[in-house]
Amino acid sequence: MGLRSKQPKALAFRCYAASHRSLTLAVWSLAALVVVVNFHLLIIHKEDESTSTHEINRSIVSELEEVEEEKFRVSPPRSRRNPRAVRRKGEQKPPSVVDEFLDESSAVHDMFFPERNMAIDPINGGNDSMYFYYPGRVWLDTDGNPIQAHGGGVLYDEKTETYFWYGENKDGKTYKAHSKGADRVDIVGVSCYSSKDLWTWRNEGVVLRGEKKNVTHDLHKSNVLERPKVIYNDRTGKYVMWMHIDDTNYTKASVGVAISDSPTGPFSYLYSKQPHDCESRDMTIFKDDNGKAYLIYSSEDNSELHIGQLTDDYLDVTDNMRRLLIAQHREAPALFKYEGTYYMITSGCTGWAPNTALAHAATAIMGPWETLGNPCVGGNDIFRSTTFFSQSTFVLAIPGLSGSFIFMADRWSPSELRDSRYVWLPLTVGGLPDEAADYSFMFPLWSRVSIYWHRRWRLPEGWRDS
Ligand code: GAL
Repeated sequence: MGLRSKQPKALAFRCYAASHRSLTLAVWSLAALVVVVNFHLLIIHKEDESTSTHEINRSIVSELEEVEEEKFRVSPPRSRRNPRAVRRKGEQKPPSVVDEFLDESSAVHDMFFPERNMAIDPINGGNDSMYFYYPGRVWLDTDGNPIQAHGGGVLYDEKTETYFWYGENKDGKTYKAHSKGADRVDIVGVSCYSSKDLWTWRNEGVVLRGEKKNVTHDLHKSNVLERPKVIYNDRTGKYVMWMHIDDTNYTKASVGVAISDSPTGPFSYLYSKQPHDCESRDMTIFKDDNGKAYLIYSSEDNSELHIGQLTDDYLDVTDNMRRLLIAQHREAPALFKYEGTYYMITSGCTGWAPNTALAHAATAIMGPWETLGNPCVGGNDIFRSTTFFSQSTFVLAIPGLSGSFIFMADRWSPSELRDSRYVWLPLTVGGLPDEAADYSFMFPLWSRVSIYWHRRWRLPEGWRDS
């Protein structure tokens, strides 16, 4: 009896416990639902508030976000081998599209490096092509010369309300310093171009010159000066340039710093160093809204990136450094910020050959950084897997068009580096990411970063006034 009476008691207790548990579960579910609904309402409310601006923005940028396909076929490669050699050694792997693209004698190369008569020519361009970017075409400055600003970046100067585009001047002979070395051009210096409309560029000259005589100087023509970027220091009133400084064999792996009172130079070269006693090759700098600035560089044999805060005068790095994207072998970093989140586009490490871009994001600039996937949209598979046959260098915010940016990249021509082209395309932040696995309350933590392929495109009319 006792036994019998115990059982129902235990059962009752279990039932009570179970019903208590389900009650707790129900309460929690209800609470979670309330949180989610509130969160949703908050978003809707926030969206409502900004609907008008947002809608205007959306309609303006929808044209930038059109997905443009490319029906691009590569004809089977011509066999350049003699049939007897083929019989002896067997068929060799046919060249890939990227091999063909890099081979200046191939038709594929010609497709991606159109002749000079197709150039973007803001002075003689005519109304039909006014303000249009044609990624990969020669781009002429206001003197009618091809722009020489490779691996560059753009500074918007508040004082003069002018954009300044700085980049490598590669207007020299391409050669190899030794048979296994990379194709190179002797240092000419850093060019600067100015513009009010981001399309018509006036040559402001070489603002930091290579050194012809002194072989011990970092800027001696036999060395390497790549990826120069300039930011303005509000405290000191100086324009500060950071760049990759190296020797012919890329063993010095350092950064160089130069300074000027004016955006158009001349810049005085200060020194070079290995930041945090680490190798530094491809690099960029980023100035945050609060005036703090950062150096981001490929290190440890390009296997990882480092980010380090600059000193208040921007002339050196502080000890505050973090390693990111460890063992991911990324370079050509281009960093930007949108609505409090930091984003970065990087390339793989394949020298002058194009490869697949990746987008990354972080809520704090020092990390942790998460990889979001390949940002490229449109074109076709090969376009998307080669960053439209180019490599990232900078991302420029389009003022007034919140969430829209210009992605700036280089289409390198290793056989004739001075003929390398610029690929400028619209980049937007929004929508769901492809890869980032992190979700919180079923909401993805990150937005998608998208770079849209266009054969020809322009900034929406009135972007300057919006
Ligand atoms: C690339 C790098 C370029 C240049 C080139 C030399 O990987 O992004 O800036 O250094 O290698 O081969």
